[in-house]
Amino acid sequence: MTSSGQRTILTGFMGVGKSTVARHLAHLLKCEKIDLDSFIEINEKRTIAEIIQSEGEARFREIETENLQKVLQTQARIIALGGGAWTVDKNRKLIKQINCTTIWLESSFEHCWRNIKFSRRERPLAKNKRRARKLFEERQRFYCLADWHFIVKPELNSYELAKKIAEEVFLLKLH
Ligand code: S3P
Repeated sequence: MTSSGQRTILTGFMGVGKSTVARHLAHLLKCEKIDLDSFIEINEKRTIAEIIQSEGEARFREIETENLQKVLQTQARIIALGGGAWTVDKNRKLIKQINCTTIWLESSFEHCWRNIKFSRRERPLAKNKRRARKLFEERQRFYCLADWHFIVKPELNSYELAKKIAEEVFLLKLH
């Protein structure tokens, strides 16, 4: 069971809907949420795509870890990670150190790819389907280390999924 003050981290592949589910969840739980990618973009004053394109993925990962440390020091109860953050050992250790509840939003590759393709956001690490699928497959073994798994299905919209999480993880009574 999640105690009321415990931080909750949402992870999962690009395009699965972490940010939207985090927004609904924060609304349902009446608490603050932070989206790590947006936090980085505000702090760095440039987009994630610009960081990766100009400085490379390795430098982006360092920036991501520095910002994760800052986010973990805030009062935000719901934190949506970027799709790669949870796959970095150091980040998982930081998250475990402060005893967060972690939730993997799991979906099929095709579902994520459809959202990546139709999204306005640029994702330099998912430039083509073959590369994105490879990343997706490589990362399953990390995502499944999260405490909870929720399957994103087409018949369940992101609000309904957030409600399901609120009821099952936070034991919130909703109707
Ligand atoms: C990444 C996912 C992105 C963003 C960056 C790298 C990844 O976030 O952090 O482009 O490595 O999976 P979303 O999962 O929100 O797209």
